[in-house]
Amino acid sequence: MWVPQLSEFSQPMYLSIADALARDISNGVLNEGDRLPTLRELATTLNVTPGTISRAYSEAQRRRLVQGEVGRGTYVLNQQQLELPASNSAAPLNLGQSELLDLSIIKPYSETLEYWLRDALVGMAKSTDFARALDYAPDGGHPAHREAGAQWLRHSLPDAQWQQVVITAGAQHGLMVAMSALTNAGDLVLCEALCYPGIISLAHGLERRLRGVPMDDEGIIPEALRELCQREKPAMLVCVATCQNPTAAIMSQKRRAQIAALAEEFDFIILDDDIYGFLATDPSIKPLSAFAPDRSVYLTSLSKSIMPALRIGYLYSPPKLLSRLTSMVRSSVWMPSPLTAQLASNVITQGLDKKLIRIQRNEAAGRQAIAQEIFANVELKTQPYSYHVWLTLPEPWTSDEFAMLARANGVLVLSGTQFQAERSGNTRCVRLVLMSPTSQDELRFALTKLASLIDSDPRRYY
Ligand SMILES: Cc1ncc(COP(=O)(O)O)c(C=O)c1O
Repeated sequence: MWVPQLSEFSQPMYLSIADALARDISNGVLNEGDRLPTLRELATTLNVTPGTISRAYSEAQRRRLVQGEVGRGTYVLNQQQLELPASNSAAPLNLGQSELLDLSIIKPYSETLEYWLRDALVGMAKSTDFARALDYAPDGGHPAHREAGAQWLRHSLPDAQWQQVVITAGAQHGLMVAMSALTNAGDLVLCEALCYPGIISLAHGLERRLRGVPMDDEGIIPEALRELCQREKPAMLVCVATCQNPTAAIMSQKRRAQIAALAEEFDFIILDDDIYGFLATDPSIKPLSAFAPDRSVYLTSLSKSIMPALRIGYLYSPPKLLSRLTSMVRSSVWMPSPLTAQLASNVITQGLDKKLIRIQRNEAAGRQAIAQEIFANVELKTQPYSYHVWLTLPEPWTSDEFAMLARANGVLVLSGTQFQAERSGNTRCVRLVLMSPTSQDELRFALTKLASLIDSDPRRYY
């Protein structure tokens, strides 16, 4: 068992352990693949808490010295392959950082991201095809970038052709492009009764009439959709069929086929927002759009799987709708930046995307286990790899009240009312994002705070 000698270090314990790890890797005491002691083993040996060892391992992971994997423990990484360019010494920007623990934004866990992507950025700058990223791109995006997009989409749409891919500046831009290109002001647009707030603000901004379709544990209920369609003619349905935001629902294959059949019967377009498709528990379930490919636009982005700052997303369209979408991209942003499209393409074609997805899914599973443990007695809707959970508060809490008091206690969460497609009074649900805290310890701390708030009586705070 590796036991660090710490006598030469005088900083906080967790940093000393991380430094000792770096030293022992560079002088060959530890080699690639060596397994480190468990938190408990090392904590007992060094007479510190397991939390201190966890922080030390997190720090070592941040420096790309080690990697932790469920079932495999923490092990030493190959340092040659990972040699990183020296980071520049400019002081880090720390603008507007608050003391709040933010569980309100769905984003990938970012501890090791910067290391992988710094490599990818340097690789991009050195590559021979870098020049194409510096120019204007043709409509829809540079063919090589669209082909990389098609490669990404083939995880869900095995026959994806690059000619049907349109590059967007993220999924929100994709939603905007598709909704404005394929519907008109005053049209009826349907979505889930509880939906991603970006859909609500977009529909209102574009003056579409937005109506929420009632849901159950699988998302939109086909009978309720049929009833709505019999009363009024919708132009479009926006649907998040996998790890729905906010309820985390995953629609079964049968339900997808029913929704697609209704789109055929009542002649509306499906906008299939599959941004969380890579978190599916059963990857054999086909995307919703695959059940009605001639009247569906598939939409995704790399924001949740790779990194939000890329601002690269993909629309996959039937040929007949393609030119309306590419024109709308041109009118809205001319083109998403070919520089980030090039970076995204490199990440995909070099297979780094698969590695990053594996890291994110592992991390999400670990964080889900923490949430299940802390909220064992509370009603939670979630999925094994979901980045978020949908929590029902016990009586007499209301969601707005809870979000306000959580904030006063230093934790930001979103109240259920923010997800209502049509405002219909208060709810007792809140959405908690598990991936936004920087470490599992930080998540545990935030969730424990929320759990003790849930256990208290809100009327005490009136
Ligand atoms: C369902 C859904 N669609 C679209 C988006 C927007 O993603 P992007 O950051 O790629 O614009 C989000 C972001 O949270 C989302 O949850």
